Amino acid sequence: MLKEKWAIVTGASSGIGLATAKLFSQNGAKLILIARDESRLKALKEELESETHIFSVDVSRYDEIKECFLKIRKITKNIDILVNNAGILKSSMFIMTNQSSIEELFRINTFSQMYMAQFASKMMIKKKRGSIINISSIMGVSGSSAHAAYSASKAAIVGFTKSLAKELAPIRVNAVAPGVVMTPLIDSLTLDEKEELVKKIPLKRLASPKEIAMSIMFLASEMSSYVTASVLEVDGGLCSI
Ligand SMILES: NC(=O)c1ccc[n+]([C@@H]2O[C@H](COP(=O)([O-])OP(=O)(O)OC[C@H]3O[C@@H](n4cnc5c(N)ncnc54)[C@H](OP(=O)(O)O)[C@@H]3O)[C@@H](O)[C@H]2O)c1
Repeated sequence: MLKEKWAIVTGASSGIGLATAKLFSQNGAKLILIARDESRLKALKEELESETHIFSVDVSRYDEIKECFLKIRKITKNIDILVNNAGILKSSMFIMTNQSSIEELFRINTFSQMYMAQFASKMMIKKKRGSIINISSIMGVSGSSAHAAYSASKAAIVGFTKSLAKELAPIRVNAVAPGVVMTPLIDSLTLDEKEELVKKIPLKRLASPKEIAMSIMFLASEMSSYVTASVLEVDGGLCSI
C-alpha cells in the first residue's frame, strides 16, 4: 500500500511509533525513523525488510531537527509521509504541576510536531503531495483530570492540524486521537486503574499499538485521498460517553 513511499516516523523506538514503522515496512515504505534511544532503533532496523535509516534526535530541540533534515536531504529529496508521533505523558493535578513539566510537555508533544512539519512540508511542497499525520490524544479532545497540561499540549495539535491542512492543501494533514493504548506510556497506571478505565470503554478493552498504526496507515495511504483536516478518534468509543 505504501510501495516506494518515503515515510518519517518519530518516536519509532517504542509503542505506537514502533508498530507504525513495522506496518509501514510490511507495506513497502522506505523509512526514516527518529527517537532518542539509538540502540532500540538499531534493533528495530534489523527486523525491518525495507530500506531504513535511523536518527537519534531529541525532537524537542529545533537545532537537532534542523541537522537531521540536512542528513535526510542527502538520502532523499522526496518525503511522502510524516508521522509526528513522539510524545510523553505526565500526570499530576494541575495545582501541583510545575513550570518545567508544563514546558517539557509542550516542547516534546507540541513544538516538536510543528518543527518537524515545517521541515517536512518544505520538501513536500515541491512535489505538491504528501500526508502528515499528527498524533494527538483523546485527552486533547475531551480533557482528563490530572492531565491538564498534557491535554492542552495535545489539544494544540488539533488546532495546528486543521490550520496546516488549510495552508498546505493538496498536501493532506490529519490527526489521530488515540484512547488508551497498551504501550510503555501508560506503565504508571496500576492494574486497578486500567481495569476502571476498561469499564468506561464501550469496546471493553484497551487498544493495541497495531490498531493505532492501522489508522495511521489509512491516513498515510491513498485510501484516505479525500480526507484532510480531520481528527480520527481511535478510542473504542471512550469519548462518546
Ligand atoms: N499510549 C497511549 O495510551 C496514548 C494515548 C493517546 C495518545 N498517545 C500518544 O501516542 C504517541 C506515542 O506514544 P506511545 O504510547 O507509543 O508511547 P511510548 O511507547 O512511550 O513511545 C514514545 C516514543 O516517543 C519517543 N520520544 C519521547 N520523547 C522524545 C524526544 N524528546 N525526542 C525524540 N523522541 C522522543 C520515545 O523514544 P525515545 O525514548 O527513544 O526518545 C518513544 O519512541 C505519543 O505522542 C502519545 O502522547 C498515546
